[in-house]
Amino acid sequence: MKKILLISVLLSSLMLAENNATDTNSTNKEEKEGLTRVETMQKLEKSMETIQKGFFYNNTEMVKSAVKDFQANLTNMDAFILSVKELENKRNFKPKEYAGKEVKALAKLSDEIISSYERDRKYRATRIYANMMDRCLACHKIIRKW
Ligand code: HEC
Repeated sequence: MKKILLISVLLSSLMLAENNATDTNSTNKEEKEGLTRVETMQKLEKSMETIQKGFFYNNTEMVKSAVKDFQANLTNMDAFILSVKELENKRNFKPKEYAGKEVKALAKLSDEIISSYERDRKYRATRIYANMMDRCLACHKIIRKW
């Protein structure tokens, strides 16, 4: 088994789920699709898990449909905008710009998973997946003080 996938399994099960069910952000209660931030995040996590499952089971359709689900949950932009409270001492941080940049990057990377699959470059797809996860965690790191 490729090392990167092992790491992914550990990361997705241990790290993304940290802080279970506590919505620490009071400004993000209800968003445009009626999903809270935590719900959006959980859906993103779920689709990442399914993408990974598609890799393990070598199931192209599973990967592709999970990427579509993933992308559908990127449209809830409010979920990605960190609040002043969360940012504490980071005065020069621009939450909206950061959110926009990250969402765009995640959309692009997830597109690349599909294009890699279509060109039968599956190992490359798993590396892109790891990059996606790095971006998820980079934002979490800002607020979780890792
Ligand atoms: C721009 C910031 C940002 C990005 C990017 C981001 N998240 Fe989050 N995420 C948050 C915030 C804020 C929380 C809530 C605070 C906390 O739980 O510490 C959160 C919480 C979560 C949670 C915990 C939900 C719960 O029930 O407590 C999961 C799971 C999660 N994110 C998954 C992901 C995944 C998967 C990605 C990448 C595809 C991602 N996040 C990208 C900001 C982000």
